[in-house]
Amino acid sequence: NRSSGRQGVALALAAARRGAEVTLIVANLEIEAPGALSVIPVGSTLELQEALEAAAPEADVIIMAAAVADYRPESVAETKIKKESQGDVLDLRLVKNPDLLRGLADRRRPGQVIVGFAAETEPDDAALLELGRAKITRKGADLLVVNRVGWTEGFATERNTVIVIDRSGVIVGEAAGTKSSVADRILDLLPRSS
Ligand code: CTP
Repeated sequence: NRSSGRQGVALALAAARRGAEVTLIVANLEIEAPGALSVIPVGSTLELQEALEAAAPEADVIIMAAAVADYRPESVAETKIKKESQGDVLDLRLVKNPDLLRGLADRRRPGQVIVGFAAETEPDDAALLELGRAKITRKGADLLVVNRVGWTEGFATERNTVIVIDRSGVIVGEAAGTKSSVADRILDLLPRSS
């Protein structure tokens, strides 16, 4: 992934251009963030959780654009694992990470707007929408940005195509274009808060 092509970064920049006070919580940012953003680097889902807990109470809008890892290694080796003593097999046990978006939605304060993302590999449009509807219900977000990803779509490109649904599963917007223009379209769909 080129960081400049990341939808989350594009959203942060677009919001800052509109005069919002933006906190960008981000992993592996390879570009320098403009001064208008307050950037909090994180390296794991648990670090992201901590950063969110600190920043979320103040936020009018929370946009969770990151593809958060669903699982993490159960234990992390303190020292290098030597293959001589490890042998021919290394089992890596993964445990489930907390669902951060779900947690934010559960604790949201009145008027706070929470936007989730759903990157899916489902090729069929109707089935993709159904996945999105089930996901927004499960997560409790106000809006869900659904996009199809694969080797040629979504992730490693400068462009993106999304549909945005609300809590009742209705499509409230669609956008296709550069990640910057998609970001602006998503921001246009936010209900006016406070
Ligand atoms: N998300 C999160 N915490 C996680 C995993 C995902 O907050 N542990 C957020 C993502 O940032 C995104 C939304 O949840 O806004 C949907 O992520 P996705 O990976 O599509 O959803 P999952 O709940 O992991 O469902 P799936 O079984 O489809 O992976």
